[in-house]
Amino acid sequence: MTGTILVSGGAGYIGSHTVLALRESGRDVLVLDDLSEGHAAALLGAPLANGSMLDREFVRDVFRAHRIAAVFHFAARCYVGESVTDPGRYYRHNVVGTMNLLDAMVETGVKRFVLSSTCATYGEPERMPITEDLPQRPINPYGATKLIDEWLLRDYHRAHGLESVALRYFNAAGADPQARIGEDHEPETHLIPIVIQVAQARREHVTVFGNDYPTQDGTCIRDYVHVTDLADAHVRALLAMEKGSVGVRAYNLGNTAGTSVLEVIRTVEQVSGRRVKSVMGARRPGDPPRLVGSSARIQAELGWQPRFGDIKTIVETAWRWHERRPDGYGDRRPTTAHG
Ligand code: UFG
Repeated sequence: MTGTILVSGGAGYIGSHTVLALRESGRDVLVLDDLSEGHAAALLGAPLANGSMLDREFVRDVFRAHRIAAVFHFAARCYVGESVTDPGRYYRHNVVGTMNLLDAMVETGVKRFVLSSTCATYGEPERMPITEDLPQRPINPYGATKLIDEWLLRDYHRAHGLESVALRYFNAAGADPQARIGEDHEPETHLIPIVIQVAQARREHVTVFGNDYPTQDGTCIRDYVHVTDLADAHVRALLAMEKGSVGVRAYNLGNTAGTSVLEVIRTVEQVSGRRVKSVMGARRPGDPPRLVGSSARIQAELGWQPRFGDIKTIVETAWRWHERRPDGYGDRRPTTAHG
């Protein structure tokens, strides 16, 4: 066996789907998570080192105690709005936390790293679909922290020979097609789960954040990409690093298909067979009208192909999960301050 894949944030939404994909491809995993946002039940029995990325000694001890072959790094704060009101928290978790991991890797000679990055590193690019060569000019602290992570990878490669792949996700959505795991945030802010909760009569309505954008129906367009397809991209990134030197590489992960807020609502109505009440509201500050990514590079270089690419399939898998587990993992706790 090739050693253990350490997955930080492996109890979270995208992390847990990737842990599942890794285990299904026969890999040994160890999840590093403090369960502040993630869910123990999402691990489906995968081993957990329970602690914070901000605890340097703890992180170091984990590396010393296991034979780690590669690191997948998901643990991060990821809300654009919160990053504007509480930037310190974002720089601490998303930059200092990443440095603690990278330093422990250097110290123990671990050379392979896959970063959860984001389309938010591009800011408001001048061209669509977004390709990797466009300038990265984030417009909020969340995007800035992830861009700094990418710079860290560039510099740790030069200094220490650390190889890495940064995966810049567009809008992660959907759930494990067998509904074993899925999305469960508290509070929920993402569009698809909110619209599903309305269809389930768990919420009265969804507020559409602006219908006066320069788009076909006036609502924002996003590129939704299935979480299981994201997980598959991580496994492919690992295989590529095992096959040969990749240096420092970055890939977009989207479907090149834009879906408007109203189209998402209609799709949920169609999939659920229920009516969804929507109310037109004001624009949400910081929302670009249209964000669509090109994934041509990862398709060409790593052979990635979305298996659940269309919005109907994405919503169907999410619907199945929310129907099966209306209360999510059922471990909701009052929000606490972490850091
Ligand atoms: N929206 C509504 N009503 C809601 C919730 C969302 O109209 O109640 C709209 C938003 O305005 C946006 C779209 O639905 O146009 C999608 O919103 P989400 O909150 O689901 O996702 P975002 O596009 O805002 O955020 C995602 C990721 C972030 C990432 C960001 C990059 O969740 O981590 O893309 O722009 F930083």
